[in-house]
Amino acid sequence: MAGLWVKKPLAAAAAEAKGDSLRRVLGPWALIALGIGAIIGTGIFVATGEVARNVTGPALMVSYVLAGVTCLFAAMCYAEFAAMTPVAGSAYTYAYTTLGELFAWVIGWDLILEYAVGAATVANGWSSYFQRILARFDVTLPASIATSPLAYEGGEFVVTSAVINLPAVLIVGLLTVILIKGIRESANLNAVMVAVKVGAVVFVIAAGAFYVNPDNWTPFAPYGWTGINFFGAEVAGQHTPAGKPLGMVAGAALIFFAYIGFDAVSTQAEEAKNPQRDMPVGILGSLLICTVLYVAVVAVLTGMVPYTRIDEKAGVATAFAQVGLRWVDPLVAAAALAGITSVLLVMLLGSARVLMAMSRDGLLPRFLADVHPTYRTPWKSTVGVGLFVGLFAGLLPLGALLELTNIGTLFAFATVCGAVVVLRRTHPDAPRPFRVPLSPLVPLLGLGLCVLLMLSLPAQNWYRLFAWMALGLVIYFAYGRSHSVLGRSGVSPGGPAGSAP
Ligand code: ALA
Repeated sequence: MAGLWVKKPLAAAAAEAKGDSLRRVLGPWALIALGIGAIIGTGIFVATGEVARNVTGPALMVSYVLAGVTCLFAAMCYAEFAAMTPVAGSAYTYAYTTLGELFAWVIGWDLILEYAVGAATVANGWSSYFQRILARFDVTLPASIATSPLAYEGGEFVVTSAVINLPAVLIVGLLTVILIKGIRESANLNAVMVAVKVGAVVFVIAAGAFYVNPDNWTPFAPYGWTGINFFGAEVAGQHTPAGKPLGMVAGAALIFFAYIGFDAVSTQAEEAKNPQRDMPVGILGSLLICTVLYVAVVAVLTGMVPYTRIDEKAGVATAFAQVGLRWVDPLVAAAALAGITSVLLVMLLGSARVLMAMSRDGLLPRFLADVHPTYRTPWKSTVGVGLFVGLFAGLLPLGALLELTNIGTLFAFATVCGAVVVLRRTHPDAPRPFRVPLSPLVPLLGLGLCVLLMLSLPAQNWYRLFAWMALGLVIYFAYGRSHSVLGRSGVSPGGPAGSAP
């Protein structure tokens, strides 16, 4: 059983980063842009309206702050690790150096859930926005290629008349090709899309501010301030008859999706020019900018329209129509499309980097770690991710998977927070170019907040997370364990982690 707890030496992880197999082309601004590219998307453009109306009311502003603070604590932990171990695998590699192989596998498998299933969710959202824009030009796709062949209604799968969600598949295919061609091209494309969506969000805030009526912020928290359950048992606050938690904290757990992505910056550590300095800047900078923008957007949205009248599908665009500015709708739709495209790009990129790191360690088939001779990108893992995400996005209804992405991400964040505390004890003297302030207080607060938000999600998500993890463990014991490079090298479980770089 010793192999389960074998730890990757910090020195070995750091040496991998020096191997320079990927091109180091990303500076601090490119990393901040990648972060914002991964963050602003479906969450703010799609989920916000529904949550404001049905779960929180104007207190959604506070939900965004709570989710933002949770992410900030986790982000500082990510930054400490990313500066210390600047390799592609992100939380997966951090866990490998601190908690051992089994835990690393669990986190790696969980990150695939976050990025790949998250990407499939986002691709589906992209398809809806794309078709919304086509409709403005009076173009309607045939029903057979417009949506998934399955719908998810009230917890049941229902067969639709469609065959495949073709736009979702095509956008995944296109972005996969761009990612294979090169990280520099991807970063440039990302920068353009980030400029478009940030411009639109700032415009929404500036223009919307003139239409805010502060009376709309009363009552501020009509659904209460909490909304917590424990595997279906109601612990605090209001719940729907079906047991779904309501209130400010429950809202934070749902719109947490809007923040997912800053952590993807850490998967690009091997492509950063100066990772020790720039990873913390990229991770924390992108998160702070997005938090400010999000709270401002929600303040404007809930100030423009009484929360009971906010549109559930496209809150921001419709709010402008409700105050008489109809021309803003297509502008927001176009910005949302650009925004969602860049989220998809970074999520696909993140999945491929995690797959590459796991394959390099032998836990998944080695060929997935191959780097393209010309483009120097991990092309086989990128193709693998593209196929998986394309299949999911084309065939499956993804509403339920949004919450699954949230719980998977919160789990990864909680682990990273815990791992910082562990590593501070096991490797007190390892060089840390960035240190989480007030450790262990901040990492433990981060861990606690992540667990609080996990408990504020409907209970089914825990069962789905367990099912995904069970599948992962089957694969690990059937393949990964016996092929692990570290496990086969015969190192003792505790030994290598003792050798600080
Ligand atoms: N944060 C990303 C979004 O909201 C996942 O689309």
